[in-house]
Amino acid sequence: MRDYQIAPSILAADFAKLGEEVDNVLASGADIVHFDVMDNHYVPNLTIGPLVCEALRNHGVKAPIDVHLMVKPVDRIIPDFASAGASYITFHPEASEHIDRSLALIRESGCRSGLVFNPATSLNYLDHVLDKVDMILLMSVNPGFGGQSFIPSTLDKLRSVRQIIDDSGFDIRLEVDGGVKVDNIAQIAQAGADTFVSGSGIFSQARDDDPNRYDSILKKMRDVLVNYV
Ligand code: DX5
Ligand code: ZN
Repeated sequence: MRDYQIAPSILAADFAKLGEEVDNVLASGADIVHFDVMDNHYVPNLTIGPLVCEALRNHGVKAPIDVHLMVKPVDRIIPDFASAGASYITFHPEASEHIDRSLALIRESGCRSGLVFNPATSLNYLDHVLDKVDMILLMSVNPGFGGQSFIPSTLDKLRSVRQIIDDSGFDIRLEVDGGVKVDNIAQIAQAGADTFVSGSGIFSQARDDDPNRYDSILKKMRDVLVNYV
């Protein structure tokens, strides 16, 4: 079995009590905190920046923080996120004029680097940078909003990237983001993903009066990955 990692997207969390939400979802067994950064320019929505990442670290969050940049340009903000405690920093190739330089900057800043592919973005961007990426993230929705439906053609794209990674021999995580739920996570894993971002699929599943609110949904996802992949 692959080393599967579940990465709740805090975009779907209750921002009025973000520290508590992140503590709870990690205590329930999540592996990585997925942190969506939107600038109302590269995508038509506006979210959170390095201050919030730093606040989570100061709050005591120790898990890896996976910063998904949906901003343009990207280079100016990379060192700020590194200083704020980011573990991974991923960006969309269309948002950088110099992809190789941006990837190098992420690693030089002490973080793990990644490229993000929109549903219609060609995988050709990987051709000359496989030695410079630690994560490949396939969007299974168009970026900008949580709560959208998984685009089925992502499965074929995942199979292609899995092949590319395995042929390369590099240690690269394959992450999928958008519309990931208990119902489709097995199929997504079978197509080759090892890292699963889920926002509404996790945070909207809990009852407010349940103190262990994310236990059952995380357990369901983990059970499916263990038993049905
Ligand atoms: C979309 C974001 C996703 C989003 C996923 O642009 O990158 O991380 O939060 O949300 P769900 O899981 O609800 O589709
Ligand atoms: Zn994301």
